Amino acid sequence: MMIDQETLEKRIAELGKQLTEELKDEQPLLVVGLLKGGAQFMSQLGKSLDLDLSMDYMVASSYGSGTVSSGEVKITKDLDEDVRGRHVLIAEDIVDTGRTLYCLKDYLLKKGALSVKIVTMLDKPARRVVPMEVEYSGFVIEDKFVVGYGLDFDQKYRNLPYIGVVEE
Ligand code: IMP
Ligand code: MG
Repeated sequence: MMIDQETLEKRIAELGKQLTEELKDEQPLLVVGLLKGGAQFMSQLGKSLDLDLSMDYMVASSYGSGTVSSGEVKITKDLDEDVRGRHVLIAEDIVDTGRTLYCLKDYLLKKGALSVKIVTMLDKPARRVVPMEVEYSGFVIEDKFVVGYGLDFDQKYRNLPYIGVVEE
């Protein structure tokens, strides 16, 4: 195990408190969860966000090859809500190469979002290939393949209530 449930949920609650303070001027906020992995984290985080907000979901993945620029993100489920003139907070499970969020942020800004900030449960900066800055992160972790709390290995283990490491 890498991060147990108690440690994880305590940190998520802390993030919620911090976001409640720091995003006061960004209300009403649109919180966007990235499916499938970000769903558990977003529901848990939402409980400690004391802000005027709506929640929506997207399914997106990057066509990862080399360093990509904007527009190379494949969106299989777009937002139901209109982002024009809205402050957006994207909730993600893990930032790895950074490609997905790099493209997605750009996409949402082009669609007219006023601002796009990112909160991620886990961050693996060692794997970054694009200059992606994440405003809020729960835990910075080393370069290991992890599962649980929404994260999968071949679609399994998303239901684990903690973060575990896949042994090679
Ligand atoms: P990237 O930042 O565009 O490379 O993509 C991040 C996505 O890759 C995450 O949202 C996950 O779906 C997936 N991913 C990256 N690292 C891991 C891991 O350690 N375990 C499970 N999924 C991962
Ligand atoms: Mg993901």
